[in-house]
Amino acid sequence: MTMADKYLMGAATSELDRMLFQGEMFRPEAERLLDRCGPGPGGRAVDIGCGPLGILDMLSERVGPGGEVVGLDVQPEMLDLARRLVTERALDNVRLVEGDAAAAPEERGAFDFVHTRLVLMNVPHSTDVLSAMVALARPGGTVAVQDVDWVSRVCDPPHPAWTGLVDLIAELWRLSGMDVHLGRRLPRLLRGAGLTDIGVDAGIRVFQHDHPYQTLLVDRAELCRDALVERGLTGHAELDRLTGELRDHLARPDTVVVHPILFQAWGRVPGGPAAKALPQG
Ligand SMILES: C[S@@+](CC[C@H](N)C(=O)[O-])C[C@H]1O[C@@H](n2cnc3c(N)ncnc32)[C@H](O)[C@@H]1O
Repeated sequence: MTMADKYLMGAATSELDRMLFQGEMFRPEAERLLDRCGPGPGGRAVDIGCGPLGILDMLSERVGPGGEVVGLDVQPEMLDLARRLVTERALDNVRLVEGDAAAAPEERGAFDFVHTRLVLMNVPHSTDVLSAMVALARPGGTVAVQDVDWVSRVCDPPHPAWTGLVDLIAELWRLSGMDVHLGRRLPRLLRGAGLTDIGVDAGIRVFQHDHPYQTLLVDRAELCRDALVERGLTGHAELDRLTGELRDHLARPDTVVVHPILFQAWGRVPGGPAAKALPQG
């Protein structure tokens, strides 16, 4: 397994905390997706690459005591924290499984709802993971994906250090077989994976200086500093200059940051009864 197969950003405590923060921030979007096409009481759902929590708590509530939720992740550190949170929150219908999503290490054709968020953009073999997700869903079951597209990733006033860092990280992702513009391709990928009744939606967030995500781009660049330098994309001195200049710019009260678009796409496995009619988005 390569580093990119796991997760380029690693599993340090600060990264796990960030994922939990991000999960809370995107809770309204996830609830909206589940309102549209999520599982009902008694259903079986799986969150692929659930990280330290993903949407396990929301799925747990929706399927209720008669249902089951599986959280699957490849990194044990993620599952350690997920296990703690699942216990603390008494999410008794949640089961955690360690494994590679591409291998679909669960009963095939058994899930009413198969979901993943912010995973496909971070794996080089996203179509393999998607095929495995489709294999896990029962005929008539739903597969739903949430992932980003960096097309909106700008700051205002513009700054060359912003553009420089966006380009560097996008290139690192590309060299690792990943795509920072995956979001827009999701409907096409779902269709290509054999799903029908495809729906799509997207949402966007904008931040100012007092929001922790104002500095996300610089934080990410520093987190993948070694990979950027090892790939020969930049040097330590250049990266120090870019991150330093950008931190100053982002700290200005008038600087606005536009987050990547969060796409949501969903579709149904042909055959079998649909839980409910899927909206087309
Ligand atoms: C950015 S995090 C997203 C976590 C969670 N889905 C959320 O939205 O909060 C990506 C997660 O995908 C997991 N992951 C990456 N590749 C995977 C694979 N091949 N199989 C299972 N999980 C994987 C990582 O370990 C990490 O927990």
